[in-house]
Amino acid sequence: MSIKLLSACLALCVALAAAHVKITPAEVPANKSSIIQLRVSHDCGDETVGTTNFTFIMPMKMKYVSVELDTAWKILINKDEEDEDYVRSVTFLGFLPDGFYKLFGVRMRFPDLPAGEKLYFKSYQDCHNQGASLAWDQIATDDNPKPRYPAPYVTLVEPTESGH
Ligand SMILES: *[C@@H]1O[C@H](CO)[C@@H](O)[C@H](O)[C@H]1NC(C)=O
Ligand SMILES: *[C@@H]1O[C@H](CO)[C@@H](O)[C@H](O)[C@H]1NC(C)=O
Repeated sequence: MSIKLLSACLALCVALAAAHVKITPAEVPANKSSIIQLRVSHDCGDETVGTTNFTFIMPMKMKYVSVELDTAWKILINKDEEDEDYVRSVTFLGFLPDGFYKLFGVRMRFPDLPAGEKLYFKSYQDCHNQGASLAWDQIATDDNPKPRYPAPYVTLVEPTESGH
């Protein structure tokens, strides 16, 4: 890699590293309902535009989903065609200027899967009038442990013994 390419990468990769779509909390109990938040903070590569469309795909069809209301954004909830109790994906249409972040909140019941299981929420971010988009949908593998556009995820932990 040339010095020029390397320094371009250093600048860009640092910006991208800070800008990954992230989910908090990072861990949620299996077989229980929890609220998670997806944090979006990056434009699509041009600082003069902002995000106009954010979509995340459920790791599997999910039940008991409720999305935090935000009247500044139009919210499209894409239900499963065969069973309306399940949600496949959620799209938010609005405007997030470059330089700001936004937390998209959603509550759902997480599946009864073993602790340690990672659930990926592949995310897609579109930018104003650019036809540009960022796909945060890469999953780390042994060959590529640090993908450039990682899909945000939560890790399941054992449910606590507390009541509802
Ligand atoms: C999962 O939750 C359901 C409903 O609360 C409960 O009946 C079931 O026993 C739970 N499964 C496990 C493995 O704890
Ligand atoms: C929002 O973005 C998603 C993913 O890029 C795309 O499939 C969808 O058509 C867009 N929706 C609108 C209304 O632009």
